[in-house]
Amino acid sequence: MPSLDHSKLSIREMNEDESEMVLEMLKDGFRDTENRLILHIITRPLALLCMAVVSSALRFLINSFIAALLVPVLLAVIGLKLLLWRSQDLRRLYSYYSAAGRKIWVVFYDEDDLCGCIAMDPKDDGETVELKRMSVSRWYRRSGIGTFLLKFFENSARRMGFRRVILYTSVVTKAAIALYTNNGYSVSGGVSWLGYTVVEKYTKELKI
Ligand SMILES: CC(C)(COP(=O)(O)OP(=O)(O)OC[C@H]1O[C@@H](n2cnc3c(N)ncnc32)[C@H](O)[C@@H]1OP(=O)(O)O)[C@@H](O)C(=O)NCCC(=O)NCCS
Repeated sequence: MPSLDHSKLSIREMNEDESEMVLEMLKDGFRDTENRLILHIITRPLALLCMAVVSSALRFLINSFIAALLVPVLLAVIGLKLLLWRSQDLRRLYSYYSAAGRKIWVVFYDEDDLCGCIAMDPKDDGETVELKRMSVSRWYRRSGIGTFLLKFFENSARRMGFRRVILYTSVVTKAAIALYTNNGYSVSGGVSWLGYTVVEKYTKELKI
């Protein structure tokens, strides 16, 4: 999208009746990276080896070579899709982010055009807050809304007394990684699968 009039952006906490719309936007954003993440996982050498072993075993039961080859791949893809959508906040977006100090904000362009969202999940230490569910509607991407949301989030966290922001993102979400690293976030850990990092943890200390 070309230039956007940022004075027409407004941000507020999400209402209950907006959850379906926001969930659709999150799903749409997630779909972009979901398939790339699954491809990344199942093409790791150890995953390929596991599928080859299952495929060889299936050859004793199934007559077709193609079917024995495809079944483990399909099962891996279905299993990963189910796993990736397991997050409890996605199942009950409004109630999850209305409790325990959590929040979810929505940003509108020109008052009524939903163009992005971002959520906050405070941690038990009282100093750390997790940034979650950042998404920008695909029609509005690359016009500064992601940066706008990030700044808004950091300012809100600072005002609430938090000292650091953490977030988790998959290694294939290139746009998000560029956004975070350009804004002072650095890798501080990650989640591995079969010895390969699939999700990275980013941290930023907030200057008070
Ligand atoms: C990640 C996301 C929120 C960025 O939102 P955005 O409004 O497009 O971001 P901005 O316009 O503020 O871009 C800021 C910077 O991010 C980086 N960036 C954004 N999109 C990019 C892309 N497609 N490729 C590479 N870098 C990108 C650039 O560094 C950009 O700065 P520049 O335009 O000056 O080069 C958006 O792409 C999105 O919703 N993606 C799908 C959901 C998702 O991945 N969420 C993050 C989960 S952790």
